[in-house]
Amino acid sequence: MRNTSSENLTPLTQNSFNQLPDARLQFIIKTFIAHLHGFARDTQITHAEWRAGLEFLHKASAITDESRSEFSLMSDVFGLSSLVDLLAMGTERATPGSNLGPFHTRGSKEVKSPANLLKDNEGEPVAFCGKVLDLNGKPIPNATVDFWQNADNGLYWQQDPNQPQDNLRCMLHVGDDGSFEIVTIRPKPYTIPMDGPVGALFVESKRSPWRPAHMHLIVEAPGYKTLVTEIFDEEDPYLDNDAVFGVREVLVAQYKKSTDSELLSRYKDIPNLLEVRLDLVLE
Ligand code: BEZ
Ligand code: FE
Repeated sequence: MRNTSSENLTPLTQNSFNQLPDARLQFIIKTFIAHLHGFARDTQITHAEWRAGLEFLHKASAITDESRSEFSLMSDVFGLSSLVDLLAMGTERATPGSNLGPFHTRGSKEVKSPANLLKDNEGEPVAFCGKVLDLNGKPIPNATVDFWQNADNGLYWQQDPNQPQDNLRCMLHVGDDGSFEIVTIRPKPYTIPMDGPVGALFVESKRSPWRPAHMHLIVEAPGYKTLVTEIFDEEDPYLDNDAVFGVREVLVAQYKKSTDSELLSRYKDIPNLLEVRLDLVLE
C-alpha cells in the first residue's frame, strides 16, 4: 500500500477487513468506513475539528463508568437509539418501540397482576391497565411486563439514596386473559444527565435537555418479538421536544380520574385514583 491516495483510501481501509469471518460484521464495518470517510469528505473536516471530535470522545470516556454511559447518551441525543428502535419495527399494527434509557436493571421482583407499587411514594396515584395482545387482538396469557419509572422528585431509585432499593419497578406476570394492572404514581419529566460533554453541547446549542414523563416497559412472551417501549402522559409539556426523540403518537396516553368500579373498590384506600389504559400489541 505505498500509493495511498484520497481516491483509494476508502476501499483500501474496507478491504483490510476482508478476513473477518463474520460476514454481517464485515458488512457493517465496511459500510461504517464508507460513511465515516464520506462524512470527512462532505464536511472537508480540518485537523483542528477532527481533534475537537476526538477530545469530545475522550471526555465521554472519562465520565463513563459501570452505572453511567455517556456513549449511550450520545446515541440517544443524536437520534441513533430512536432510529434503531424504529428500524426494528416490522408492522405498524404492533406497539412501537421506544428508548430503553440507562435506568433499567435486571432482577426486578416478580409479581402477578395486579401489583401495587405505591408504598410510601408521594405523587398522584394511578392504575396503569391494559392487555398484552397479539396482532389479531388475542390475549397473550404468558407475557411478562418488566416495568420501571421515576419517583415524584423526577429521580429513579438508582439516582436517589432517599428512595428504597427497587422503588417503582417490578416484573409483572399478566393474568390468564393477558391483562395487567400496576398501581403506581404519575411519573415526572426529567432532564438527561448534563454533567458530561453531551450536557455541554446541549448548553451551547440551547437544546432542551428535558424528557417528557414516561413509564418504561419491556414486554416479553415466548414466540413474540420483545417490545421495549415507553408510555407518555398526554398532558406533559415536553412531548414535542423530547431530548432523545422517543415519543410516538400511539404511546401517548390519557391520565383520567378513575370511574372503574372494580378498580375503585380494590383500591378504596387510595384517594383520587387516576387511570391510564393502553393495550400492548406484540408481533
Ligand atoms: C430515560 O428514559 O431514562 C433516559 C433515556 C435517555 C437518556 C437519559 C434518560
Ligand atoms: Fe426514563
